[in-house]
Amino acid sequence: MPDASNPSPPRFLLFEYSELNPNFRDNPHALLDPQRADRPVEHDGMLPAMLITAYAAGRETLRDPDLSRNFNNAAPNNPVIANVRRLNAAVEAEFGRHDSIVILDGEDHTRVRNIIAEAFLKRAAAMQARVSEIVDARLDALSGRDSFDVVADYAAQIPMRVLGALMGCPDDSLDDLKRWTEAGQVAFDPTKSAEQEELALDGRRGILGHFQTLMAARRADPQDDLVSDLLAAQAAGAPIDDNEILHNLFAVLVAGHLTTSDLIANGVSLLLDHPDARDAILATPALIQPAVEEILRYEPPISFTARFPKADGQVSRCPYHAGDALVVSLIATNRDPGRFDAPHAFDINRRPNPHMAFGAGAHICVGAPLARLEGQIALLKLFERFPNLRRAGGTSSEWRAVPGVRGLVRLDVTV
Ligand code: HEM
Repeated sequence: MPDASNPSPPRFLLFEYSELNPNFRDNPHALLDPQRADRPVEHDGMLPAMLITAYAAGRETLRDPDLSRNFNNAAPNNPVIANVRRLNAAVEAEFGRHDSIVILDGEDHTRVRNIIAEAFLKRAAAMQARVSEIVDARLDALSGRDSFDVVADYAAQIPMRVLGALMGCPDDSLDDLKRWTEAGQVAFDPTKSAEQEELALDGRRGILGHFQTLMAARRADPQDDLVSDLLAAQAAGAPIDDNEILHNLFAVLVAGHLTTSDLIANGVSLLLDHPDARDAILATPALIQPAVEEILRYEPPISFTARFPKADGQVSRCPYHAGDALVVSLIATNRDPGRFDAPHAFDINRRPNPHMAFGAGAHICVGAPLARLEGQIALLKLFERFPNLRRAGGTSSEWRAVPGVRGLVRLDVTV
């Protein structure tokens, strides 16, 4: 723990331990391991924020019902949150308040999440055959090629097609939805350019406009899809209004694309680096289930999540003020030696595997079953189709410089 008699200079923790720092991207654990050992909970030296790297403290924070997930409760001088607020405010006049479960708290969160989760999970549970078809079609499209980029040519091609099929977005809208969603990944980046901000804003408008049109079409003529299910639930008396449906459709789409694409590409990269694990999965395909859990633990696609206290308090005796962002580093909690034996070993037989890649508490990822299904099918089928898959010579992993994201820029392979 820090020595109070010998205070160290203030540190810009949220930069140092974010993907904006190239050293962090290259090897986050070289920085996170000593941080977690010495200062498992520490207040940022400059920002109204606290960095939590220990598993127990992180879990306790995410599960605390008194902490808010609504960034409108964050201190106004937090530049990261100011960004997201600005994006939301810019579209509010046209598309209403951002009432998604991502930021709702308490009773409103429970009310809306129950309705969204019930409809979404019913659809997700019936997606196995469709996901397999989508994956097979992507593999067919790659056949005959000597090499390809796993990220752009495979992983990123799957989730939007799955989401389109589940939600009811027409095939000819998927390229736009993918481009708009990807433009929005800079939402939490305080260093983004004016041009990137404009593209993110256009993307947000595009997606919301798309779902506004789709809701009107499905209300007039229901189909076999999530949008129709939510409108039917509302018509049958479920307490959810049009604005809440619209913004939750937005949230599901945006939360379900790059996250799952990164899970698949991170998984390919890890299995290329661990041929014994890949061979074990090919010999015993049921191993893909614990393997995906280990991939999620080892390289979690969302590297941090946050809560915002409405009153002063403390985590593990480290005090915070109302409005501070309590940032939980999932990439750090998932490698906490206090929770996981040999945390830096990639072990597909690790059981139990209580990783925090999907967060924890009331806001735990609602899309986790679909992400797992896509990850399992996409990884197993890829290695079955291309058993000799190798990294293309001379390439090394380059991670995207996007705060909160653990995802590869590209992953070139030969077949
Ligand atoms: C590997 C892929 C995925 C990862 C790593 C992931 C991770 C996360 C994390 C860390 C959270 C925040 C939890 C918290 O703060 O406690 C979250 C929330 C959420 N995720 Fe995912 N997610 C993934 C895939 C998906 C998919 C496929 C969907 C939907 C299609 C989805 C929809 C959501 C939604 C709507 C929330 C907000 C839930 C709430 O606040 O109540 N996610 N996810």
